[in-house]
Amino acid sequence: MSDTEQDRVELPSPLADALARTERWLVMTGSGVSAESGVPTFRDAQTGLWAQYDPQQLATPEAFESDPETVWQWYQWRRELIRETSPNPAHLALAELQRLKQDFVLVTQNVDGLHQRAGSTNVVEFHGSIQRNKCFLCHQPGPESDAPHPPDCAHCGGLMRPDVVWFGEAIPGAALQAAGHAVEGCDVFFSVGTSSLVYPAAALAETALARKATVVEINPNSTPLSSHADFSLRGPAGVWLPVIADLVRGG
Ligand code: OAD
Repeated sequence: MSDTEQDRVELPSPLADALARTERWLVMTGSGVSAESGVPTFRDAQTGLWAQYDPQQLATPEAFESDPETVWQWYQWRRELIRETSPNPAHLALAELQRLKQDFVLVTQNVDGLHQRAGSTNVVEFHGSIQRNKCFLCHQPGPESDAPHPPDCAHCGGLMRPDVVWFGEAIPGAALQAAGHAVEGCDVFFSVGTSSLVYPAAALAETALARKATVVEINPNSTPLSSHADFSLRGPAGVWLPVIADLVRGG
């Protein structure tokens, strides 16, 4: 992002008016929010992880059962990659918005922890966290590990795995409940940097639409949500979110 890029974009005035009127904000983020930090998204052509790797072989319980080492090592590689990145202006703007707004909930599909590193608190981690580990068998949490092989669980001797949601697995109950509660109460819903293709995460925007909340999408590309959203801001999150933070700050 450059200052010039941010200077060039302007919020549509009906959106600025709507934002000034709304109190209860819910922001749902996806991997596009971390793209400007250098963390690859999943579905972008060429650069997305799923363009290079098969999710069935790396992000399912069946994959871990049949080849735990490969799955563990792939997550160790991603952990290392994430460790070398920093929050970008999109993460920082969301942390500032949380400080500025009384009623603000951040739900993320991202497992990279960059929102927390930017200063966001009480982040609802819909798909878990790559930093944490848990036992594949008994689900007890375990310590972080740099080991090249999945360590043994101290409780049951099972293998440790990253505490992320894999395909075919349920969303953690507390996250599902917190996100559901927030969407039932919000009057503006932002969908930022997500392809809106993965459920149940994508259903949150649908609930917001059904409740007639103001739905705002921020994404350089169109998604299945775009034509339904009240406002579609085309462009990077690192450009648009600081503009929104400026507005709220009164800048
Ligand atoms: P996707 O890779 O499906 O979508 C990323 C979205 O970010 C795309 O719509 C891009 O256009 C957009 N994007 C790219 N750069 C951006 C930028 N600078 N600013 C804003 N948007 C940008 O990623 P997700 O929607 O996050 O699940 O994927 C959802 C889930 O699918 C992930 O949580 C993961 C994956 O499989 C699990 O791991 C369970």
